[in-house]
Amino acid sequence: MVAAENALDSTCFRANNPKLNFTVNQTPEILLFAGRLHPLLVHLPIGMIIVLALLEMIAWLPRYQNANASAGFILLVATPLTVVTVVCGWLLSLGGGYDESTLAWHKWLGIVTAVGTVTAAVCYRTGRRAAYHASLFATFVVLGATGHLGGSLTHGSDYLTRYAPGFVKKILGVTPAEKIPAPTAVKDFQQLPVFAGVILPVMEHTCSNCHGVAKAKAALRLDSFAAVLKGGENGAVVKPGDAAGSALVQRLLLPLDSDDHMPPAGKPQPTADEIALLKWWIVTGAVENKTIAELQPPADIRQLLAHRFDIPATVP
Ligand code: HEC
Repeated sequence: MVAAENALDSTCFRANNPKLNFTVNQTPEILLFAGRLHPLLVHLPIGMIIVLALLEMIAWLPRYQNANASAGFILLVATPLTVVTVVCGWLLSLGGGYDESTLAWHKWLGIVTAVGTVTAAVCYRTGRRAAYHASLFATFVVLGATGHLGGSLTHGSDYLTRYAPGFVKKILGVTPAEKIPAPTAVKDFQQLPVFAGVILPVMEHTCSNCHGVAKAKAALRLDSFAAVLKGGENGAVVKPGDAAGSALVQRLLLPLDSDDHMPPAGKPQPTADEIALLKWWIVTGAVENKTIAELQPPADIRQLLAHRFDIPATVP
């Protein structure tokens, strides 16, 4: 029932907005369903291949030479699982909304992983030990890269490192994301420019991976004031003064399972508070340089801002 209502909402939304002629996903639902098994299945063959590689390594020690006794059984289960997982991954990719170059690498390395596993299984069955070991260890290495790219696809490339301690970021060569200086004094808080201090950081967190320098999906960039106001391939996405009429807000408010929902399902989503702040910024005219004090937030927005910057909400 809820799903039906959502679908209806989304259809009406489309019909009422002839300017927003999005591409509708044509993939049959059963295939999209099978695709969504990918994140569920994927950890099984990964675990099995890792365990098998470890057992084979340990079996090199004379003391543990029987460690690989169950290799045949592990391969029997892991090989078909790997192939099914790769096929499901490919189906999942048909749903779209992924970073294209990461997806391409992930897809091809996933295929190499499946081919490697099949090769290892065949070599094992036919008694070619050296070739079996070579293909197993090659698959093990490729698997690491494939898994990492898969994680980046669903969670964003900085998922792992975003909250890492400074020294870990240094080792990995990650430049720490610019933090908005937390305004300590109330005066600073009030002087914070709304766009640069509140709105842009939300977009940088949830939109700029796909709407930024590297990728600009739908020719839309959301990484500067000028770009946000310029809009995308279907024109402006922000109508100053009219939040409900702004495509940017409409997309955020669509049900998560709608194909047109932004950010696409599975990607980091802005919180309800952040959406409320975005709407407020648009309602107040979507200007670039006004400070919080100048835009005179109403009580509820003031509370959200105070919460966001960790300032007692009672302060005007
Ligand atoms: C994972 C990638 C991804 C992320 C993250 C993402 N988008 Fe998109 N966005 C797309 C793709 C792909 C399209 C084009 C397909 C479509 O129109 O649905 C698009 C299209 C749009 C459009 C339509 C532009 C036009 O001119 O047609 C808007 C508006 C939009 N996104 C807003 C956002 C906002 C706001 C965020 C962040 C809160 C966001 N997107 C995050 C991938 C993404």
